[in-house]
Parts: sequence; C-alpha cells; structure tokens
Amino acid sequence: MKRITIFFLAIVLFGRINAQDSYLTLNINDAKTTISKHIYGHFSEHLGRCIYDGFWVDPKLNVPKKDRIRLDVVDALKKINIPNLRWPGGCFADEYHWRDGIGDRSKRPKMVNTHWGGVTEDNSFGTHEFLQLCDLLGTEPYIAGNVGSGTVEEMSKWVEYLNSDGDSPMTQLRKQNGRDKPWKVSFWGVGNESWGCGGNMTAAYYANEYRRYATFARNYPSAPLKKIAGGANSADYNWTEVLMKNIPHNLMWGISLHHYTIPTGIWGKKGAATPFDEAEYFNTMKNCLFMDTLVSKHIAIMDKYDRNKRVALVVDEWGIWTDVEPGTNPGFLYQQNSLRDALIAGTTLNIFNNHSDRVRMANLAQTVNVLQAIILTKGNEMLLTPTYYVFDMYKNHMDAKWIPFTLSSPDYVNNNSKLPAINVSASIDSSGKVNITLVNIDSKKDITIHADLNDKSFNKVSGRILTSGSYTDINTFENKNKVIPASFTGATISNGKIEVKIPKLSVVSLQLY
Ligand code: AHR
Repeated sequence: MKRITIFFLAIVLFGRINAQDSYLTLNINDAKTTISKHIYGHFSEHLGRCIYDGFWVDPKLNVPKKDRIRLDVVDALKKINIPNLRWPGGCFADEYHWRDGIGDRSKRPKMVNTHWGGVTEDNSFGTHEFLQLCDLLGTEPYIAGNVGSGTVEEMSKWVEYLNSDGDSPMTQLRKQNGRDKPWKVSFWGVGNESWGCGGNMTAAYYANEYRRYATFARNYPSAPLKKIAGGANSADYNWTEVLMKNIPHNLMWGISLHHYTIPTGIWGKKGAATPFDEAEYFNTMKNCLFMDTLVSKHIAIMDKYDRNKRVALVVDEWGIWTDVEPGTNPGFLYQQNSLRDALIAGTTLNIFNNHSDRVRMANLAQTVNVLQAIILTKGNEMLLTPTYYVFDMYKNHMDAKWIPFTLSSPDYVNNNSKLPAINVSASIDSSGKVNITLVNIDSKKDITIHADLNDKSFNKVSGRILTSGSYTDINTFENKNKVIPASFTGATISNGKIEVKIPKLSVVSLQLY
C-alpha cells in the first residue's frame, strides 16, 4: 500500500498523527495464509566446525553425548523447535558420495574436503548419523543430493536406501547397516548452486538435468518426495524464469534461492563480524532489507507461470556473511554473532512471514560455528548467540495464520540515506492468540507504535525484548548472557488498540490474549 494512503488511514484510525511514530493496522479477520513452520529451518554443512566439532564431537570430549552427537547442542535446538535441518551442503553436497558415509566407520574411505579448508573428511558422520541427529532433534531432514559430480543412479539409489520398504539390494544394504525400516525422508534438494560450485551450469542445462535427476528420485509407498530445484543466486531472475518455464511443475515442490547479507556489499572484503561502525551497520541493514525486493521479484516471475502458487520459494541459504574471525581458517567461515545479526534475523523472518503465500521454507546458514550461527562451541563449552534468541521469540509464528496489515514507519536516517526503522509481522494461532514481532533497526531513536486491531478485543498483552547497548554487542564464552531476551513491559492495550514503545536496536515479540 502506498505510503500516502497509509498516512491517511492512520489519521482516520488514530486521530492526530505524529511523524516520529509508527502506525500499524492488523486485519485479523483476513488471516488465511499459513506461515509454514519450515520457514524456521536450519542448515548444517560439512564445513568448518559445523558438523565435526559442532554436532559430532570427539568421543573423549567431556559433554553429554549420544554416540558422538553433542546433546547440549541438541537440547538447545529442541527448545526452539527447529522444523527441518538441511544437510550435507551447500557446495559440499555436490562432491559428497553418500556410499562413503555408511557401514562400519573404521572402513569408510576418507576424502579431502576441497571446497572447505582442504581438511580430511573421514566420513564418520554420514546418512545414519544425520538421521539419528534429526531423530534426536525431532526435526525433518532435508537432504541435498549430488548433481554436480554425481550420477542419476547414485541419487536414485540414495532415495531408495532411505525410503523404500521393498526387497532390493539397497534396502538389504540398509538393513545390514542396522536400519530395518525406511526413514521416509521427504525434503529432497536436487543439487546445490548448480550455477556455481554445483557444476557451473547454465539455467537451461540445469533445467534439463533436473528433469532427469528428479524423474529417477522415486516416490516410494507412503514416502512422496518434496523435490526442490536448485534456484537462483540472489538477483539472477533469469534463472528462476528458465526453471519455471522448463521444468514441469508436477516434478518439483519448490525452487530455492540463495542470498546472503554482506555488510559492505563486496564479496572480497565483506566487513568484520565485530567491530564495525554506524555507516557499516546502516549499509548492512540496507542489504538485509533488500531481501524483501528480492523475494518479491522472484515471486512475480513465479506467479507468471504458476498463478496458484503451487511451487514454493525455498530460501534455503540466508544470513549475514562477514569476514572470518581473525586467526581462524578462512575456509571454516567462523564468525561472531552480534545484536546486529539478531536484527537481521528478526527483519528477515518478518519478510519471509509476510511472503508466506509463496515462501514456504527457509534455512539460516548455518546452525553451529559457521556464518550466522545460532550456537557457538569451544571445547566442552557452548553459547547461544543473539540470533538464537530471535528464533525463540518468533517460534509462535510457526504454522499460525499470517495477519495482513498496513504499516507506516518513521525513517532511520544516517548521513543522507534513510531506511524504514520499523518492520513487523503478525499471526494468529489456532487458539486465537495473536503474535506480533517487531524490529526497530534505528540506532538512535526509540519509537512509539500505535496498533489498531480492527475491532478485535484483547485484554492482555505480554512480550519479550532482545536488545543491548550497542549493535556490536555479542555473547562470549566469558560472558554468555550479554545479549539475552528480557520480559517486555513497554506495551499497553485498551479499547482495541495497543501502544508499544519499542527501544532503538531491538526485537520485540508480543502475544495478545
Ligand atoms: O553456506 C556456505 C556456502 O554458501 C554453501 O556451501 C554454498 O551453497 C553457498 O555458496
């Protein structure tokens, strides 16, 4: 809705309006689209210390474990109900040969992880270990098959090994390796970044390859696959266009999209995870907000070919990507995680919620110790990053109905540039509770938000806030609780209206009863 219209709507609803305030109208009666819980998905690659030394640790490490799976990490992820976990890559997926990762661990071949740091991969974490991890997490696996350096047969047999209940060499092999029943994995990625590390293909060539690979990735009884085509690199709209045009829609459940927020916008010199100055903070938030334009444009292309929105847009890699922490292996992508990253997470999840009629899955990169991690580990210690807490505060949106809204926001101004300071999304769950998540990215101004509930009356509002003194604030192994949520008392409710005083640099989640 145009800014001017929102402005007049605000005058009608709220009487006098103040340009420094924000005005929100929630059309609760029009809530129809479900916000898929899979928007809150995560990603774990054989990269740096995500799998090895993150999820899967040295048997001698003194932490609670199941086999070699670290249970303090599992417990933390269970608390935020992670709905799915993508594996084994990323770029690693297109050099991974699944048969190297099954059977007696002492006999599994080793390989060099050429893409990520040139380290030796001993294949001790393979199919069975990943699916045991998913089982412990109570989450759905999302497996990416190898198109770049694999074969149609290899992918087809992996699906058979995982999902078939019949009698065949693959199911016999699975049984020999200790698993009787099929796992029935449904989310299935057909390659990864096939325009780049996954084979440097053209869109037309990949579309043909997709048709071939997807044909032989079979649906076994009561195990239908949700096949996801490897989608565009950020603003490569032509890639989406070619795939939507050339792949029969009944052959794919979704098309992916990868987009990272780079603080400087320059891949060769991304900017530090911390410290950074206001200009870089502003630029990062500008790059983060670009996600809204990006998904809108990809969706517009998808709409041309698929008016009924059958094919999902799956943003299966997103998050902030900075320079690595000084002194760490550049191929390990280890970065700290600040309040800025929490504001990015809150803003991006609001964007995805607001496009939930098409965005039905997303995966933050990556869960532990890599990129915008929600958990960092050091020896037997573990910490939760500011980004982790955003997922905790947003979890009530999962599978709730999205509430359409209009919003006017004051600007966050830096030098001669400006951005909307406030972003929001809202949902109503099956019990009638309304969830509102708000982000104030302004580094200097607290903002009052006046919200109209469109004649719905609620008596009680409760909330949580995540904020800190500076956008550079982080949790460290010495001070794990610097940036953690607190209960929020800045919201009042009366006569079908709420007023929220949202401090600068904060994420707030509200529940209305
Ligand atoms: O998440 C890190 C890498 O980023 C992934 O392996 C790849 O798919 C993307 O380029």
